[in-house]
Amino acid sequence: MIRAALLAWYDDNARDLPWRRTRDPYAIWVAEVMLQQTRVETVIPYYARFLERFPTVDALAGAPLDEVLSCWSGLGYYRRARLLHRGAQHVAARASFPRDADAIREIPGVGRYTTGAIASQAFDLPAALVDGNVARVLARLFAIEDDVKKGAGLRRTWQLAEQLVAGPRPGALNNALMELGATVCVPREPRCTLCPVREACVARREGRERELPVASEKAARPRVREVAILLRVRGRDEHERVMVRRAPTGLFGGMWEPPRVVARDRHAARAEIEHALGVKITLDDARARKVSHVLTHRHLEVSVVRGVASRPPSAVRSEAWDAVAVVAPHELATRGVSTLARKLLG
Ligand code: ADE
Repeated sequence: MIRAALLAWYDDNARDLPWRRTRDPYAIWVAEVMLQQTRVETVIPYYARFLERFPTVDALAGAPLDEVLSCWSGLGYYRRARLLHRGAQHVAARASFPRDADAIREIPGVGRYTTGAIASQAFDLPAALVDGNVARVLARLFAIEDDVKKGAGLRRTWQLAEQLVAGPRPGALNNALMELGATVCVPREPRCTLCPVREACVARREGRERELPVASEKAARPRVREVAILLRVRGRDEHERVMVRRAPTGLFGGMWEPPRVVARDRHAARAEIEHALGVKITLDDARARKVSHVLTHRHLEVSVVRGVASRPPSAVRSEAWDAVAVVAPHELATRGVSTLARKLLG
């Protein structure tokens, strides 16, 4: 009954989204990775550009990481792009795209959610998926009292999703749950009058649809103070900037940005960056510009100062960075540059 109602509702109400027009597991994978932390409207143009540039898993596997990150510039959570690239290399080394859930799950970087998304949407296999939207729908429909983000609550959502997905049209069923969460069973003011399963919904029957799911504890977000130096090179075009590439693991791994370090003041930052790049730096004495940037687990507050390097740096001595270049403004488009780095560049 719940299943049939969800499927009928989905057939009439599904938004026409680009990744719903394909059964290509690679294209679905790309979409799901982008959608994991980013809103649908933001993803749509990135998805189109990405598939134009890397139309097949082999094209992605054979591309340099820098090019992949440049295509991801501005989407955030760059680790996703690195993992997608590595996963593509795993798939490209096989004869064909894996067609069962266990083999899909073996792709590096592909977790339980993405496995369910690819297996159900590309191959119509009864593989469950739970994302934030689905968890909210299930928490209300079945009145889950525990935090659905961890422990017993999390296990319960997966168990319910697995029960629901078993049956005809698993891909459509998963999409129906996601769509319901995105458009009707929304966080603050659920639109229950439009809901195809309102009669079955325990939270609604008990008048608790606004109370569920229970709020999880918010992650603490410490403030981290950093200094970035917008560095030009003496005797060269004043629009060029010294940019460093962050080491592949960790936050912003593989992305290019102006040198930025955790430091108590600009002088400490200058000393550290001089050492890492092997150049002398003269700081401009104008006041610093402040850039604030919120990430999932921290709040960066960056003082941006200007400086001049004595010569072009040729090597990097730092754990945080693995390359350095003097970059002209038009060259930025060809490299992975985060939204934070764009804010720093001003
Ligand atoms: N969010 C995550 N996956 C999605 C999908 N396939 N369609 C719409 N929103 C989504």
